[in-house]
Amino acid sequence: MFITLEGPEGSGKTTAVNYAVNKLEEMGYQIVRTREPGGTPIAEQIRNVILDKANTAMDKRTEALLYAASRRQHLVEKVWPALKEGKIVICDRYLDSSLAYQGGARGLGVDNVLNINMFATEGTFPDLTLLFDIEPEIGLARIAANANREVNRLDLEKLEFHKTVRNTFLELAKRYPERFVIIDASKSQEEVAKATLDVMLSRICK
Ligand code: TYD
Repeated sequence: MFITLEGPEGSGKTTAVNYAVNKLEEMGYQIVRTREPGGTPIAEQIRNVILDKANTAMDKRTEALLYAASRRQHLVEKVWPALKEGKIVICDRYLDSSLAYQGGARGLGVDNVLNINMFATEGTFPDLTLLFDIEPEIGLARIAANANREVNRLDLEKLEFHKTVRNTFLELAKRYPERFVIIDASKSQEEVAKATLDVMLSRICK
């Protein structure tokens, strides 16, 4: 089973998923926890280029292609082998992030970005996608309050950008209702964590 986690900045997905993964492992499930962009040495090198604050001249199509390149390398080296071994792969961000950030917010068009990602992924879609939904104002305030979290090039985008990211994610949830589940990330950390575990368990046990 291939599970992906999506949502805007500061939606608290990492904490919620840490909780859920611990519980699932206690129950005996074999989980591979990973993230995008990155997750393997080559993909992490691509990640550093994409997120480097010094790269202000990066063209938006270049950005979309780099995300897709990093995604492919990560699939080949890590995700596909783990799925083949019957493990549950839980990945922080995947192709829907490209559709929302590059397709929606950067204005490249969701279908254009989907096309390059079909090439990159050979049509590998997640079985389940958790969308941690929160208003960008709240998410960005949480990031600002969390001094330990590193600020990256995409965090620095304006509020309008993050609103488009959110709206595009919500449109994607309508477009792919069979794999998307929306989690209300404005709730307390505890409630979000519990909801995350419940959704994962109900899909795993189906
Ligand atoms: P990261 O530090 O992993 O952010 P987060 O903790 O919010 O997941 O940085 C990833 C950034 O890259 C994030 O701002 C979202 C963005 N992104 C895209 O724009 N397109 C993509 O395809 C992916 C995977 C991420």
